[in-house]
Amino acid sequence: MEQFVLDAVERIATRPQPDYRAIEVAPLTPVIGAEISGVDLSRELSERQLAEIKQAFLAHHVLVFRDQLLSGEDHKRFANHFGELRRLPLADLDGGDPAILEVAASKNSRFVAGEDWHTDGTADAEPSLGSMLYVTRTPEIGCGGDTLFANMHLAYELLSPPMKALLDGLTAIHDGLIPWQGYTPPPEYVIPKNEHPVVVRHPDTGRKLLFVNAGFTSHIVQLARSESRALLDMLFARVAHEPILHCRVRWTPNTLVFWDNRCTQHHAVWDYYPHSRYGQRVSINGTRPQA
Ligand code: SIN
Repeated sequence: MEQFVLDAVERIATRPQPDYRAIEVAPLTPVIGAEISGVDLSRELSERQLAEIKQAFLAHHVLVFRDQLLSGEDHKRFANHFGELRRLPLADLDGGDPAILEVAASKNSRFVAGEDWHTDGTADAEPSLGSMLYVTRTPEIGCGGDTLFANMHLAYELLSPPMKALLDGLTAIHDGLIPWQGYTPPPEYVIPKNEHPVVVRHPDTGRKLLFVNAGFTSHIVQLARSESRALLDMLFARVAHEPILHCRVRWTPNTLVFWDNRCTQHHAVWDYYPHSRYGQRVSINGTRPQA
């Protein structure tokens, strides 16, 4: 690896960590993901526990809570501590609770949610702050159905200084039609499309990150289409093929994972067909990404 890459990894991997007293935090990798224990999310959390969960969220971006027995109301109450719940258009159209999206796959599935690398809903003007997926059923075969997450701060830091300088002033279109390629969206679904900076700052930490994803980004506005395609393909390949950016969550039944949608991408691995998997996802409203 180039020296600037090693320096970037070292900077992120050796950041001082908060001093946790009310929860236990076990990192999944030095740069992304942590398992949190010592909390029961079906009960009201103490202020100290909540404050430490918020610190761990900003430090690790993906938090894994195992062995949680949660009702839909518990799930939403926990999410509500981080902001207003997002009304999810597809859950709404299904006639269910508009805050809860079912994430289900079985022998009858022809696709599953989030099969490719993406950040949720970036075609929206204000993409979500984060999501909490609570998986209650994992594949009967006892393996498969993991979710990969990537740290987009580090994805930015791994770029060379001239590449960062090029990307810094650019904007890109995020098109909600991209995930529907090969499928027909429900007629009532209003397809979102918005322009966001290619490099943004995390609204809570101010740290820079790369904000384009294969799931929604169609092109970079200021470049010729062929330049934009080549550059985006290079960036998407970097996210997909650079294991140093990743952590892998192996689900066990009754695990809740809370990810920071503002600085991560994820990929739900569909390697368990014809077995099934079931979960429910609640998302939290975010703000407009800022350069
Ligand atoms: C999603 O993209 O929200 C689905 C993630 C998963 O099923 O692991």
